[in-house]
Amino acid sequence: MALQHSVLSPVFTCLCSLMYIFSTGLVVVVAVLTVRHIWYSRRLSCFSKPQTRSWLLGHLGKIRNTEEGLQQMDDLVKTYKHSCFWFLGPFYHLVRLFHPDYVKPLLMVPASMTVKKGLIYNHLQPWLGHSVLISNSEVWSRKRRLLTPAFHFDVLKNYITIFNSSSKIMHDKWCRLVAEGKTNLEMFDHVSLMTLDSLLKCAFSYDSNCQESPSEYVSAIVQLCDLVAQRQHNILHHWDWIYWKTQQGKLFKQTLNIVHRFSRDVVQKRRALHKKQREIITQSVAPTSQRRKDFVDILLLTRDEDGRGLTDEEIQAEANTFMFAGHDTTASAICWMLYNLARHEHYQEKCRQEVMDLMEGRDGQEIKWEDLSNLPFTTMCIKESLRLHTPVQAVSRSYTQDMVLPGNRTVPAGEICLVSIYGTHHNPIVWTNPNVSTWSLIPIDLTQKFAMTELQVVVALTLLRFRLTPGVNPELGSSRVRRLPQIVLRAEGGLWLQLENDPQR
Ligand code: HEM
Repeated sequence: MALQHSVLSPVFTCLCSLMYIFSTGLVVVVAVLTVRHIWYSRRLSCFSKPQTRSWLLGHLGKIRNTEEGLQQMDDLVKTYKHSCFWFLGPFYHLVRLFHPDYVKPLLMVPASMTVKKGLIYNHLQPWLGHSVLISNSEVWSRKRRLLTPAFHFDVLKNYITIFNSSSKIMHDKWCRLVAEGKTNLEMFDHVSLMTLDSLLKCAFSYDSNCQESPSEYVSAIVQLCDLVAQRQHNILHHWDWIYWKTQQGKLFKQTLNIVHRFSRDVVQKRRALHKKQREIITQSVAPTSQRRKDFVDILLLTRDEDGRGLTDEEIQAEANTFMFAGHDTTASAICWMLYNLARHEHYQEKCRQEVMDLMEGRDGQEIKWEDLSNLPFTTMCIKESLRLHTPVQAVSRSYTQDMVLPGNRTVPAGEICLVSIYGTHHNPIVWTNPNVSTWSLIPIDLTQKFAMTELQVVVALTLLRFRLTPGVNPELGSSRVRRLPQIVLRAEGGLWLQLENDPQR
């Protein structure tokens, strides 16, 4: 008995101490979070605060990534007109902005005072490293200068052949499916593979054949995008020390290995090739055959004012970003454009007529660089579709100084500003008739011309070969479309269209 007592007593004391430490820790954490929350709420009291669930939980669980979530955003914009204050429990405090007069001054702040901070950038960092999308201040400015040649018009001119050939592969596949009687097709599956196919050729000169047969690298990119989207929706997974222990976190790391191995290999091999070519030139042997320069080539050659180039690691980061930022966004823009044309037959016909007039008397069906400025109506419809179905819903920023907005409202330094591109594009004060106004207020980015060129080529070639009408979503059993805002705007259960081969072509 005495022995039992002498053994159990220290165990009991130890347990009590542990419980004491744990509960004291918990009280301290709750106290710190509460004080922090009260402090933030005071600082942001100049912004209207929509009704909350409770004083502590705030709007936690109210941001929904569904059709209803977008409708809720419409209501928010109608009620608060330019901005409001949201908080997700004691963890995140956000100023949400959706009017150009509030958004413009913030987006025009010099890079040296801007910090990309918010819900998604940290989650992308393991994948994209310190790329231009994630970096800040001088690092961002330097990267941006070094990247600019990669999106120069002369470079884009080379890419137009790739856009044509990737579209043709997709359209040939559609023709085969239509001939087999499969006329109701889900657009995202097809179009995402096509944009990935194009990007792989533009970035790495790599022909993955991913539109015809599965590719490990392409599947890995698609999976990483899904995992990033899932992580965003689970607030507990926002903390690295929890996320990396979860199944999704482990899967993310495994998948990341595939993607990183691929880009590392390409960059290393290409650097070696450049070195070899330089040696051949200095030894003045016969001229080497001229290969079309891709994104990696340009990044290997680019230099800053001091003559310094990018390291292998930096090039990999930019190449990974190019793949991540370039495929889903453009795919979303193309799919929604085709959907809008399917719903508005009259405009579809007007666009088709414009493309047919342009191609009249030509042998092949190839859109050339010079053609792009001769598609004004189609281009206008693309821009309107980008406004109505904004591929990227929001960006977030914070600032190293207090920012004063109209009405003397101040966003304190360090506060997260969630700039709603969707909200700004649907704000009824700006668009008196939001269903018919044109073009967006927020320019997309330095890659705007790249995206627009791809959109023009794909849309024009699609209209030449197919007639589009709304399809039937097998999950919903109807042609109803429910928007799904993830990293980019998608549709629940996919976006289904009915295709018919144009008998005239
Ligand atoms: C319709 C198509 C596109 C849309 C709607 C779109 C939208 C956006 C938005 C909203 C941002 C700002 C993100 C932020 O700061 O948080 C961004 C940045 C970026 N996007 Fe795109 N994008 C599109 C196409 C592309 C393409 C095709 C590429 C590459 C080939 C690309 C590469 C990038 C890069 C590198 C950045 C970072 C730029 C910077 O920080 O200066 N995007 N994009």
